[in-house]
Amino acid sequence: MLAGRRVVLGVTGGIAAYKAIELCRRLVDAGAHVVPVMTAGAQRFVGATTLSALASEPVQSSLWSEADPIPHTRLGQNAELIVVAPATARFLSAYATGYSHDLLTATLLATRAPVVVCPAMHTEMWEHPAVQENLATLRRRGVIVVEPDSGRLAGGDVGHGRLAAPERIVAAISEVFAATDAPGGQAGGALRGMSVLVTAGGTREPIDAVRFIGNRSSGKQGYAIAAEAAARGAEVTLVTTSNLAVPPGVSVERVETAAEMHAACERIAPTADIVVMAAAVADFRPAAAVDHKLKKADGTPQIVLEPTPDILASLGASKPAGQTLVGFAAETSELRANAGLKLVAKGADIIVANDVSAPGVGFEHDTNAVLILTASGRDLSLGLGEKREIAAALLDLIVEERSGTAEPARPTENSTPTGA
Ligand code: CTP
Repeated sequence: MLAGRRVVLGVTGGIAAYKAIELCRRLVDAGAHVVPVMTAGAQRFVGATTLSALASEPVQSSLWSEADPIPHTRLGQNAELIVVAPATARFLSAYATGYSHDLLTATLLATRAPVVVCPAMHTEMWEHPAVQENLATLRRRGVIVVEPDSGRLAGGDVGHGRLAAPERIVAAISEVFAATDAPGGQAGGALRGMSVLVTAGGTREPIDAVRFIGNRSSGKQGYAIAAEAAARGAEVTLVTTSNLAVPPGVSVERVETAAEMHAACERIAPTADIVVMAAAVADFRPAAAVDHKLKKADGTPQIVLEPTPDILASLGASKPAGQTLVGFAAETSELRANAGLKLVAKGADIIVANDVSAPGVGFEHDTNAVLILTASGRDLSLGLGEKREIAAALLDLIVEERSGTAEPARPTENSTPTGA
């Protein structure tokens, strides 16, 4: 995947700069041609000589080179991908505002290549709204963000903000190249240029200040679909109640209740090409949540429930032309019949149904087995497989449905097509 690829490795001035050395070595070992660019700050942490010795070319750090009067345009135009690791808060701010004060930021403005940024900083800085807003801006522009890990930070502190492990960064870069190479995508996969909305996780409907009604959904299937869509080049927004690791290139909007998920979907769906409602939305919520903790001494509470909005059905009723709307169906019996009913009742184009009472299927598992029905009359049964495999098969089917290509949908290896 990386062999022969020209990757610009930008290193900015944080303590994690030492890990850029390991990242560089891994990229070179995988066959990439690594062009290192260091900021002045980065060189206070690691020597340019070290990186020059391991990379494919000597380190460049100045906008003002006698030999090459415009190094940033040459670097930016020739790059197949630019990765910045570590990316400091200051760098993110400069990049988000287009403040091209040094070779790295100027190179980033002069490129059309995919960009991967790997932030690393102290937890307080990471959580600061200024940093998060800059990241949101960059994500909106298609920059792929490899989220930091939790662990030991500079100065002995422990928290979130540690640079992602080099292997995770290499995996994110490989995913970008996989998308670039995918069929139908000259610069990024079959879903390049499309906007995809995915929902994930189970909603939590408050009873009082500390308790809620929830369900067993982990969000894993929704996250797998979001990751797969982003890897195929789509601009993906994930509206989620879960706290799983954010897949590379995915924008996340966290919600808790059915009402919050509904509001987010109503706002985002009208401009989405593909909407996948993988979330397990509560059907009922307490009619009046109590704003303090209910006390035992007050006696057994009588909780009056009221229905929540059916988000999928309301999206189905107002679906814009050209949008593909996908719903899920969690069932414990009559899988096919119930899935068929939901397909029609909710105005969806595709229903992905699973028997959540079967071993290894649905809630909380890493695997799933599904029956997919389409409004166009197709019918595909996928046997037990990783949720990411199910996501890939579902997106294959969506792409085929959108392009109007003929059946049968491409099954995964362990699938059993059941269609007539
Ligand atoms: N869904 C929704 N809003 C709700 C309930 C469900 O958008 N209030 C969506 C789910 O995200 C899923 C689909 O509708 O894509 C089917 O959800 P499921 O829980 O299987 O079905 P229900 O609509 O709850 O119907 P039933 O209780 O009869 O199974």
